[in-house]
Amino acid sequence: MGPEGMAEFARALPKVELHAHLNGCVRGATLEELAREAGGAPAAAEVRAALAGPRDLRACFALFPLVHRFATTRAALARLVRESLADLAADGVVYAELRTTPKDRPEEGLSRRSYLEAVLRAMEEHNRSGRIGGAAGGRVHCEGRLIVSVDRRESADHALATVRLAVELAAETPLVVGVDLSGDPAVGEWSTWEPALLLAHAKGLPVTLHFAELPGRASEGRSMLAFAPERLGHAVRVDPALESELLATRIPVEVCLTSNLKTQSVATLGEHVCARLLRAGHPVALCTDDSGVFDTTLSAEFLMAAEAFGLSRRALFEFSLGSLEHAFLPEGLKESLRGHFLVAAARLGVATPGGDA
Ligand code: IMP
Ligand code: ZN
Repeated sequence: MGPEGMAEFARALPKVELHAHLNGCVRGATLEELAREAGGAPAAAEVRAALAGPRDLRACFALFPLVHRFATTRAALARLVRESLADLAADGVVYAELRTTPKDRPEEGLSRRSYLEAVLRAMEEHNRSGRIGGAAGGRVHCEGRLIVSVDRRESADHALATVRLAVELAAETPLVVGVDLSGDPAVGEWSTWEPALLLAHAKGLPVTLHFAELPGRASEGRSMLAFAPERLGHAVRVDPALESELLATRIPVEVCLTSNLKTQSVATLGEHVCARLLRAGHPVALCTDDSGVFDTTLSAEFLMAAEAFGLSRRALFEFSLGSLEHAFLPEGLKESLRGHFLVAAARLGVATPGGDA
């Protein structure tokens, strides 16, 4: 099949997004509009210039404060959630775990709790517009869930407070499904956040860790593997010894190809860890990381993977269905989504494991 046919297939394929930072999903046009509302033409011009600039790891971490400056209001957060889930649905994503770092913004009347509540309220409203594993009038419904992020800049106490907040909210709503550790990978020490992440585990919340984003951090990587998180993000700069240890754990890896290329974590997809993980049969979920910041979509990531790793339509379908197994969802809801995949397999003309569609 030609590249256009494969692009079409990647879009039509039901997909599951497990690694997407809410503020990183912001549409460029929305960010510019929010900046204009807050600071007029000069602020809008500042956003335009930043969006036109480079996107290496440093530049990306310079872009986030700009997003946070204009998007941390109740109304903007709700808009980010609505637009992210709409964009994901338009791309054929049926389930998404968005993650975000709770922020205090007293001048906007936002505490860390009310920040998360604003996100959850918008997500709940969106989820009410469809049904998990269902489609409304031929339109894909993308069911949203929330992972609460601990930022690597947080102190031990701050990280504990973040996880306590996640635990409290998870008791109030099934939309909160886990905890993440993210933020500038050059900042901080694993021992600072470990007690908070242990608390998440003790309270039954699954954990995903940004892992091996920088070279020469094997000792942190080893501590992270020993913690036994439910998932890992990136694993893009593992040295050979750490890679063998990772393979032995069978911990699923959220792979973000465009993000890793744009941040220059890896030069080509041929040398990307994903190629080796797939060869080893290690569990992998393709994800976007920051679809707005990196200007990508999940179907674009699937198309890249198909081309770089020589995957057939059937292999892409199984790859996507496999991601669902790693979702932080109860088995019953996974089963509803599996049903949706099986119906799609027949429509897409791919044989399914155990079936002959
Ligand atoms: P937020 O948590 O919704 O504000 O999403 C943006 C935040 O996600 C950034 O400030 C970082 O802390 C985190 N983030 C986004 N992309 C990356 C990445 O590639 N590595 C580590 N952290 C990231
Ligand atoms: Zn990330």
